[in-house]
Order: sequence, then C-alpha cells, then structure tokens
Amino acid sequence: MTKKTIAVLPGDGIGPEVTRAAIQVLESIGRLYDHEFVFREGLIGGSAIDEKGDPLPLETREISAESDGILLGAVGGPEWDHLPGDQRPEQGLLGIRKMLDLYANLRPVKAYEALIDASPLKTDIVAGVDFMIVRELTGGLYFGEPKKRETIDGEEQAIDTLAYKQSEIKRIAERAFEAARVREGKVLSVDKANVLESSRLWRETVTECAETYPDITLEHMLVDNAAMQLIAQPTAFDVIVTENTFGDILSDEASMLTGSLGLLPSASLGATGIGLYEPVHGSAPDIAGKNRANPLAAIASAAMMLKYGLQMEEEATRIENALEKVLEAGYRTADITESTQAVTTTEMTEAVVKA
Ligand code: NAI
Ligand code: MG
Repeated sequence: MTKKTIAVLPGDGIGPEVTRAAIQVLESIGRLYDHEFVFREGLIGGSAIDEKGDPLPLETREISAESDGILLGAVGGPEWDHLPGDQRPEQGLLGIRKMLDLYANLRPVKAYEALIDASPLKTDIVAGVDFMIVRELTGGLYFGEPKKRETIDGEEQAIDTLAYKQSEIKRIAERAFEAARVREGKVLSVDKANVLESSRLWRETVTECAETYPDITLEHMLVDNAAMQLIAQPTAFDVIVTENTFGDILSDEASMLTGSLGLLPSASLGATGIGLYEPVHGSAPDIAGKNRANPLAAIASAAMMLKYGLQMEEEATRIENALEKVLEAGYRTADITESTQAVTTTEMTEAVVKA
C-alpha cells in the first residue's frame, strides 16, 4: 500500500463543493489501487480571512509544505472585494505559489468529443483540439520591479515591469520541452520579440534550450498572432510556452474552445516536487452553495496530481477515461447544457465514481 498525504484547501464559493467531488474520486481510486490517501484540510482565501484574519494562515502553510500534493478549490468573492490589495483572498494563492516556487503552470486544453457542440465555435474548428499551455507563473509582468505609482510633474503615473532572468526562462522552457516529449513533440514559444526586449531574451533562451531536445520541434510566434491562431486553427497546437501575462490571457481564451471553464484543470509545479492542482475557474459566487457547479475541472485537476505529482499515471488515465465516459453517457451540469435535465454537482460526481 502506498501512503500519500494530500493537502486540501477548498477555499471559497464553489471551491468546497468541487473539491469534495475530487476527494470522492480520489478515495475510489485509493480503494481500487490499494493506496492510502490521507487528506489534511486547511483554510485559504476569504474563509481563512474570516476565521483567522489571514488569507494564508501558518497552519495552512505547514499542511501544504508537509504534503505530497495540494488540491485547491478557488478563492475570492464579493464579500472580500472591499479589502486592500495586500489583504485580499488572492494573497493566499499568491503566497502559496511563492512559498513553493511554483513557476510552471500547466493547463491542458482538450475538447471532449461528447461536448463538441458546447463550444461557441464551429464544430469543425474545435474537433480534435488537444494542447497544453505552459505558463510562466512567478515572473514576468506580474512580479517585475519597479512596480509602483508616482507623481511626475504633478501627474500620477503607474509602472509595471516585465523582467526575466535567463534562468527563469530556461527552467520554464525545459518544462515545456519535457511536456512535449510525452505529447506530439512540438513546442510553440509565444512572445512579443518584435517589441519587447524581455521577449528577445526569451526567444534566444528558448532557442538555446531547444538544442538539448533535438527530438522536439520548436517554433516561435508573436502573441497577437497566437491569439488569432488559437481561434483560427486550434488543432495545430501541441505545447505552448509563454510569459505570465500572455499565458493568463491565452488560457482564458483557450477555455472557450472546450465550452466551459468548469472543465479545465491545471497544475502548478516547482522545484520542490510539491505541486498545486486546481481548476482554472474561480469561486463562481453566482452559483455557490446551489449544488450546480461542474466538478469535472476539479476532478481532472486531481488526475493531474496523480500524474505529475504522485507518479500514478495509470490511475490518472483511469479518471480521465471516466470523465469521457460520463460525458458520452450524456451527463451534463448546467454550464454545459441548456436543457432543464441538467444534473447536480453530486450527481455528476457519483457518475464519475461509478464510471
Ligand atoms: P469564475 O470562474 O468564478 O466564474 C465565471 C463564470 O463561470 C460564472 O458565471 C460562473 O458561474 C461560471 N463557472 C465557473 N466555474 C464553474 C463551474 N465549475 N461550474 C459551472 N459554472 C462555472 O470567475 P469570476 O466570476 O471572474 O470570479 C469570481 C471570483 O473568483 C472572484 O472573486 C475572482 O477573484 C475569483 N477567482 C479565483 C480564481 C482562483 O481561485 N484561482 C480564479 C479566477 C477567479
Ligand atoms: Mg485568469
């Protein structure tokens, strides 16, 4: 029997509902494969602010640092919108990314065949979409210094900085090349090298890194063109590697290829080996507590944890197959059907466990 300790940080809104679903699926995997998963729950985000006055309490840091992987729901909601920037729920998430140096955000985008009608795009464009965005997560425009406001000649000015060290680019590029190895062997590096100096360093570094991966094909594309190609011919992509902000925007754009945010999982990986696995969607306050949330993104995130964090590839595939099966069988939560026959979060979860 393999014993693994999993930190569970449900967070706010629909976070607890979808995380519960993921745990149920992991428990059934545990029974099938004789693994012992020990779940240790911690507070994060708004609920942590309410109970402890801190979006990332010490206890949560400890539970996370002592785990083999972290399963997170979502953080935030209108209740906490009045708080100043440095005390908001997001600080919980940013804090944990920082603590574990989670610099690589992997976001697979796969159009389920059974859901091909759920995308607002034409069926023949989205059929067969299957790629992975590898977004740099701890550098770039979101973190570069200086980052400040100042008054110059009596006028207010604000500054953000897009900065990268070569080592930061190299390590994210390596993640992308590794990811491509177990996929179709194609990496597309997305930058804005015609304008940005940081992008020119990005391009040089990724190109240099490619020499170590002769089995992988590398191409470069400017981010504005990439935004267009994602809609024009999304099946052409395999692995996309890009800067933090570009990756944030492109991955939300890409989510529409699959039809719902409620389907997309993510993994954030770093140097420590402890990864953070969470759905791409937020806390969805509009449907929180109504048993309406789609749990599939959270369940697929648990599958990513098995695959990337716990080296349980077969178990991960078993979950992915179950997700396909329930969709083929016609199970639909409200976000992916207009019919009044939508199933609830708990019904969908039970179906997955059964499958
Ligand atoms: P959101 O992802 O929470 O919701 C956007 C829309 O998608 C809503 O209509 C929601 O009902 C729907 N939706 C999202 N997930 C769904 C699911 N699993 N099943 C069915 N429908 C789903 O994004 P929004 O509304 O911009 O943000 C709401 C809150 O979540 C904010 O406080 C925001 O800061 C936070 N947020 C947190 C994230 C995180 O924890 N990683 C990421 C994005 C937003
Ligand atoms: Mg985003």
